[in-house]
Amino acid sequence: MSEVSNGKPRVLSGIQPSGNLTIGNYLGALKQWVEVQRDYDCFYCVVDLHAITAAQDPEELRQKTRESAAIYIASGIDPELSTIFVQSHIPAHSELAWMLTCMAPLGWLNRMTQFKDKAGKQAQESIGAGLLNYPSLMAADILLYHADLVPVGDDQNQHLEFTRDLAQRFNHRYGETFTLPSVMNPQAGARIMGLDRPTAKMSKSDESEHHAVYLLDDLTRARKKIMRAVTDSQREIRFSDDAERAGVNNLLTIYQAITNKRPDEIEAHFAGKGYGDLKRAVADCVVDTLEPLQARYNELMNEDGYLDSVLKIGREKAAAIAEATLKLAQDRMGFLAPS
Ligand code: TRP
Repeated sequence: MSEVSNGKPRVLSGIQPSGNLTIGNYLGALKQWVEVQRDYDCFYCVVDLHAITAAQDPEELRQKTRESAAIYIASGIDPELSTIFVQSHIPAHSELAWMLTCMAPLGWLNRMTQFKDKAGKQAQESIGAGLLNYPSLMAADILLYHADLVPVGDDQNQHLEFTRDLAQRFNHRYGETFTLPSVMNPQAGARIMGLDRPTAKMSKSDESEHHAVYLLDDLTRARKKIMRAVTDSQREIRFSDDAERAGVNNLLTIYQAITNKRPDEIEAHFAGKGYGDLKRAVADCVVDTLEPLQARYNELMNEDGYLDSVLKIGREKAAAIAEATLKLAQDRMGFLAPS
């Protein structure tokens, strides 16, 4: 029962307020969020409940949550068009997540690549259970709003499949309740890789100085990071799936995602040029993207009360929808309604 508002299908997505948002978050998610906001009824949340699957410093989490919301707006999400809210402001997310956790087979959860990657880096005994149950919370985020489409980087596709499978399981057992969402990956930039290690996805919590360009990086520093990006000992500037050419491919992907040019146009543009030229061109377009974003961000953070009022309105709009869906799901599952 897809719920259509203003005749527009619904979109929902979120980013964790852990670490600092990178150009990977911008090109893999935010840029697409902005592009779809006129054609869809969009809900964009700051997923703080997901962030605590790793230990967070309380003051820092609070700060990053506001900062993330400001970056959404500075990236071009218009609060007049889209609903921006904080996940933990809507208790229905936690409540539905528990109901879904009880329906999620351990086998499915254990197969999640992101869990295996993250769990693999820690001692098995000490891993927080939240890391395993993370996809059920993400499913709750999506299903509460009857989202039709979920724009995310392609590392999240498996979680989307999990969400569909879980929704189907619920609908099958308790009757049609949830809309099955589809994933929407950007045409270019679905996966931006680390500048220092182009075979691993760019992460906002990597320790290395030359790994990521952060959206709030000083512009000189952002440029320097790109100029230092790992490439290879060949010369040709071409898109390639070859692991050895991952660095050049990543720079070309960043360029493509920002300029929206076709791959053949880009290759023709760089024909006969060197890696230095490529890096300068990428640095220029990254800086041109960051400059206005940072200016708007600084305005927002200095504008007393504006951000909080956006989040308050977002919370009210989101709560109305989420609470109705939660009630329906609780009723279907057999919970006694309070009188
Ligand atoms: N798991 C997503 C990520 O790490 C973030 C996320 C949480 C999300 N809930 C969501 C994305 C709902 C889309 C929809 O990128």
